[in-house]
Amino acid sequence: MSDQAGTAKPVSRRRFLDIIVGAGLLGWLATVLYPVLRYLKPLSGAGPGGPIKLSADEATRLEREHYVIVRSGTSRVLVFEDPAQGLRALSAKCTHEGCTVQYLPGESIVWCACHNGRYGLDGRVLAGPPPRPLAQYDAQRDADGSILVKLGKS
Ligand code: FES
Repeated sequence: MSDQAGTAKPVSRRRFLDIIVGAGLLGWLATVLYPVLRYLKPLSGAGPGGPIKLSADEATRLEREHYVIVRSGTSRVLVFEDPAQGLRALSAKCTHEGCTVQYLPGESIVWCACHNGRYGLDGRVLAGPPPRPLAQYDAQRDADGSILVKLGKS
């Protein structure tokens, strides 16, 4: 038996450089592939056109501020509590130039701050430049308290 049995073999300079270069290449590959894979992966949740279930945080914001804007793919949806009709959902994209609208509970209107467009709580245009009403969606509160918005015509 030799004296070197059981002792670690020293790493040569060549082997050390191979490890460093290999780790660098793996890091570079990960930084290139990760954004590509993120881009190709479908959006989480129901996806565009499918039903939206409000998260606990969104439901809390709805309770506190009387409205919340949620996203489904590239769509924005305004969910709000209409004192007369209950839970409602409209497209949050102004039909004029696409700004995000907001619910003004004190005035019972949906308002676009970009050019002072005003909509009724059913989405019809009351005043301002918007050419068309906001799309309406079906919003429901389930027995367990969760809120579901069905996209598409209601
Ligand atoms: Fe909303 Fe012009 S973008 S009124």
